[in-house]
Amino acid sequence: MSRTPYFALLTLALAPACRRAEPSVGLAPAPSGPPAGAAATAEQSPGPAPEPSQQMTRSAVPADINDQFLDATKPAAEWENRWEVESREVYTCRDQIVAALALQPGERVADIGTGTGLFLSSLSLAVGDKGKVYGVDIAEKFVAHIQKRAEKEQMTNLQAVLSNERSVCLEPGSVDVVFVCDAYHHFEYHEDMLRSIRSALAPGGRLVIVDFERIPGKSREWLLGHVRAGQEVVQAEIEAAGFRYLDEVAVQGFEENYLIRFVRE
Ligand SMILES: C[S@@+](CC[C@H](N)C(=O)[O-])C[C@H]1O[C@@H](n2cnc3c(N)ncnc32)[C@H](O)[C@@H]1O
Repeated sequence: MSRTPYFALLTLALAPACRRAEPSVGLAPAPSGPPAGAAATAEQSPGPAPEPSQQMTRSAVPADINDQFLDATKPAAEWENRWEVESREVYTCRDQIVAALALQPGERVADIGTGTGLFLSSLSLAVGDKGKVYGVDIAEKFVAHIQKRAEKEQMTNLQAVLSNERSVCLEPGSVDVVFVCDAYHHFEYHEDMLRSIRSALAPGGRLVIVDFERIPGKSREWLLGHVRAGQEVVQAEIEAAGFRYLDEVAVQGFEENYLIRFVRE
């Protein structure tokens, strides 16, 4: 990876149309003003036009599912101790997960719901200097965190993107691969998110989902309450949104998670 002025390449994309809307339970969003403090660090750009929102009601996720992430008083670094630990399947299996994305040098990949950016350095290496990695999250603290991480780990091809609960805030056709790990069940408007993901993907682009199984009688009680839908429902939702199911990849070490791959139709 080149060691040339990475700070020059690191920009926080914050499109006005993509700022987080006020929490809403009902009708189409009215994008609100910027979150406090965002404008000072954000590069302002016209950004992508907002996709028309069609999902009228919130997905059946727990009401507070993203509250801890959006709470600025809980520092992002604390989440590293929860997410980047050997007791977490997606952490121990991270190399197999990234291999399943089959990234080629020069490709553009978006990690939607990137959190602390566990996968970013592997994604960055896989696509190389000519590729691009978008680390996308609805939580400003995680976006700021991955920017620092990119600087520290010299990820010259990373762009941090502050998105919102209905849109990935990426330009149409701007990525080859979308990766969603442990975040699909956090989508408060999954139909809008899938529409936005599909729009961001170039024709023939890939979508890879890693998420928790949800099997009554087998899954832990906490997961049954936390995860909105099981694998079959998730697959059906994604197919209905204009993706072709490709396959499920067997990840050695997965006991509670699954990995499924789709192609944008
Ligand atoms: C459980 S964390 C997973 C983080 C990371 N993918 C990992 O596996 O370590 C879920 C992340 O999804 C983000 N998130 C929730 N809804 C989102 C949405 N609609 N778009 C983008 N990110 C979202 C949260 O802010 C949080 O960082």
